[in-house]
Amino acid sequence: MPLTTAGEIVGPAAKAGRGCAAFNAIQLEHITAIVDGATRAGQPVIIQLSHNAVRYHGSLAPIGSAALAAARAAEVPVAVHLDHAETPELVHEAVALGFGSVMFDASTLDYADNVRVTRDVVDACHEHGVWVEAELGEVGGKDGVHAPGVRTDPDEALAFVQATGVDALAVAVGSSHAMLTRDAELDLDLITRLRDRVPVPLVLHGSSGVPDDGLAAAARAGMTKINIATQLNKVFTAAVIGDLEARPGKVDPRKYLGAGRSSVADEVARLLGVLAA
Ligand code: G3H
Ligand code: ZN
Repeated sequence: MPLTTAGEIVGPAAKAGRGCAAFNAIQLEHITAIVDGATRAGQPVIIQLSHNAVRYHGSLAPIGSAALAAARAAEVPVAVHLDHAETPELVHEAVALGFGSVMFDASTLDYADNVRVTRDVVDACHEHGVWVEAELGEVGGKDGVHAPGVRTDPDEALAFVQATGVDALAVAVGSSHAMLTRDAELDLDLITRLRDRVPVPLVLHGSSGVPDDGLAAAARAGMTKINIATQLNKVFTAAVIGDLEARPGKVDPRKYLGAGRSSVADEVARLLGVLAA
């Protein structure tokens, strides 16, 4: 199965009114686990690498090339997406490496500046056939900021999409990044109003804080791309700790990283099932 693009996964899902999952990878074990889980579920999947993950590795190419190679070898359609890119330079690097989509995050800027810089990124990406997601109404939670009250206004969202030409829009509807509890309550009425007003697929960030039934309800209400990161890190870390505690004195990383990888694959398959239900 060839490497696909996020647009080729998100577009049909939006048309069909269902959700599709985008999972964040930090290291190779996440990448192979996401592909394994999607293969088991028999569903397409988006692997995304955030600007923060790139910072952790020091550069995009090693981890980005690994994700692209895993996607090319997969038995189900797999897209590789750049997530929360904060600079146009990183976007251009991802495009040159072969990424089919990017999320450019200028959501901390004021509206006019967000439009201006996002428009430039969209123009450059579209010249290469690359699909672009952007964000309006900053989803809280990154860097310890918790802003569950932030909401995206449907009229402003429509104007933003028209002014920038983005292919998908991340909106603030009640979720918050990096939550360790799964008790966020989404504004389903706002999701429906955004879906009716905005002509491109909607993206839910901070999905780890949303319980299973909330994710399914969000997809039914009109949310298409569901971004999940922290939930995978939670199960990965719990499995690594469990393995190290069960086998004191053992030092082979393949054992505890393998335990983490296998629990992430299980969770990916499970969450894809939740969205498909
Ligand atoms: O862009 C990635 C996501 O918004 C993930 O958020 O870590 O809360 O699942 P999360
Ligand atoms: Zn996010």
